[in-house]
Amino acid sequence: MPFGQKAPIGLDIGTASIKVSQLRERKGGYDLEVFDILPLPPELIVDGAIIDSLRVIDAIREIIRKAKIKTKDTVLSVSGHSAVIVKLITLPEMTEEELEESIRFEAEQYIPFDINDVSIDFQIIGPKEEPGQMEVLLVAVKSDILNDYIAVVREAGLNPVVVDVDFFALENIFEVNYEIEPGRIVGLVDIGASSIKMNILKGGTPAFTRDTPTGTNILVEALQREFELSYEVAERLLRGEAVEGVMEESAEQIVMETSEELITEISRSIDYFRTSMTGEDVSELILAGGGALVKGLADRIRDRIGVEVSLIDPFRNITISRKLDDAHIRDMAPLAAVSLGLALRRVGDR
Ligand SMILES: Nc1ncnc2c1ncn2[C@@H]1O[C@H](COP(=O)(O)OP(=O)(O)OP(=O)(O)O)[C@@H](O)[C@H]1O
Ligand SMILES: [Mg+2]
Repeated sequence: MPFGQKAPIGLDIGTASIKVSQLRERKGGYDLEVFDILPLPPELIVDGAIIDSLRVIDAIREIIRKAKIKTKDTVLSVSGHSAVIVKLITLPEMTEEELEESIRFEAEQYIPFDINDVSIDFQIIGPKEEPGQMEVLLVAVKSDILNDYIAVVREAGLNPVVVDVDFFALENIFEVNYEIEPGRIVGLVDIGASSIKMNILKGGTPAFTRDTPTGTNILVEALQREFELSYEVAERLLRGEAVEGVMEESAEQIVMETSEELITEISRSIDYFRTSMTGEDVSELILAGGGALVKGLADRIRDRIGVEVSLIDPFRNITISRKLDDAHIRDMAPLAAVSLGLALRRVGDR
């Protein structure tokens, strides 16, 4: 990047909150110059689809103002099982150029949508054991949803330069901060409000991805029902704030019971992975997303699934600028992870 030019911002438009990050590259790492988060009311984005564009545009404008961002170039992402399909497929060996030509044809059978309604990208992972075959990571995004995201970012006065998917943003921030051990199997788990995104890496390359349409919203809804609360108040309760008339222990009990469902989904993904990989085991789960911060959840995942579990630490190779509230941002690290991964991307990346 030319000297003096600011890196693009990473804008993670989630269903429950928008996060924004900006990094400055320096020798041996990065400095975090900007981070902010803004909660969204639950009805604006449902299951990855933007329902109320005007209010999403307002929210983006607000977070940009709040974070005092001057940069226009923006890397954004799309996610949600109804918008994004990520699949590892096996194809006959060919060059990148050849695959570029034939990918739409090859992809058709793997995509549950009309091939004419999706934008397709791919990454050649490498040769398979069987000679003449190679493994390809196929990414298909529904074009109408993709265009909606690009449109709101534009309408908010920003300039979209790269569109990523949450899976890869998380993988990128992981790579920048963690040592990749050959053969070691690590599961990145983003527990969001309306989805759990799992990306299982073997020696640093994706071996399995799964997007489950359930997330911390089921915890908020359970709290709402049990204590007759509004979404906003129940959400505050989940984040550990005191709410009048609700005992902390009773709230924790409800969260604990309901989160079994989330743990079951994570466990199921690991089972699918194991079956598809002839018995190989995940040795570690690294959690991201707001769900990673739910009190006691990481411990219960560890106990039930029986693997090492930790919260993602994106600040091993990223220094937090002195302008920012270091302790506060560290506390929110799992929430920041996807936006940080987006902020790593550069104009011209595909
Ligand atoms: N400190 C906290 N403690 C407990 N829960 C938290 C905390 N912070 C956030 N959460 C919960 O995490 C949820 C999801 O956060 P996150 O920002 O990752 O979702 P999202 O990215 O908007 O959703 P999705 O990725 O599914 O679109 C919030 O709705 C909130 O309930
Ligand atoms: Mg998210």
